[in-house]
Amino acid sequence: MVTDIHHVGIVVESLARAYRFWRDTVGLPVVREAIIADQGVRVSLLAAGASEIELLEPIGKDTGVGRFLAKHGEGLHHLCFLTPAIDTDLGALRARNVPLIDERPRDGLAGRIAFLSPKACHGVLVELATPVHAEPLPESPVRFKRIVIGCRDPQETATLYQDLFGLPEVEVNGGPRMMLGWAGGGTVLNVPAAEVGGMMGMVALSMVAPDMPPLIERLERSNVAMLVGAGEITVEPQSSHGVHLHISRYHFP
Ligand code: CO
Repeated sequence: MVTDIHHVGIVVESLARAYRFWRDTVGLPVVREAIIADQGVRVSLLAAGASEIELLEPIGKDTGVGRFLAKHGEGLHHLCFLTPAIDTDLGALRARNVPLIDERPRDGLAGRIAFLSPKACHGVLVELATPVHAEPLPESPVRFKRIVIGCRDPQETATLYQDLFGLPEVEVNGGPRMMLGWAGGGTVLNVPAAEVGGMMGMVALSMVAPDMPPLIERLERSNVAMLVGAGEITVEPQSSHGVHLHISRYHFP
């Protein structure tokens, strides 16, 4: 069914402030921005390699995203899978009585989109998207690599994602973790909640960069709170709008 991770959605208080980090400091180019009135959000998609980062600012308190922000603060909100055929995929899920938010695809910033109920995926809000825009994504100095999901039982969650979306398993060196996704594309890493401070759902975002020194320089110049290790940066969530963000060195093929 699905062929890659299209984007990861992050709820922010202010798109203008979030741009200072995600666009100006990390360096992700803005692909498209719009107000989606029926969802009560100002939304922006930024290119991050073959996938995108979606920033969502509520335009009212009494909106889904406004309520999320009031309850959880800024941070990871949803995971969107790319599919070439959203009508077929959503129809198949509907026929299996998978709980959905959108019974029919609708227009979103990413193309034709639909949300499943978080009940369908152990509390993770999953969106499907079939793009309608044909232009290629602009180059970005940092690329999406992986979303980390804390779960009670990684194997059980992996089986669910394989069953609902046909996600292939990516080889991982044993242990209790389960990695799904696409070699050379986006991946989902399921880890036991105990490994991530008991947190369930989307807990961290991993990205890769081929050229670390200029990135570190930009992060330092913006006074970003981070730990710089050998070939890896860990950005503190207060600097990255509630997101536990890891960026590691990677040589693009
Ligand atoms: Co989205």
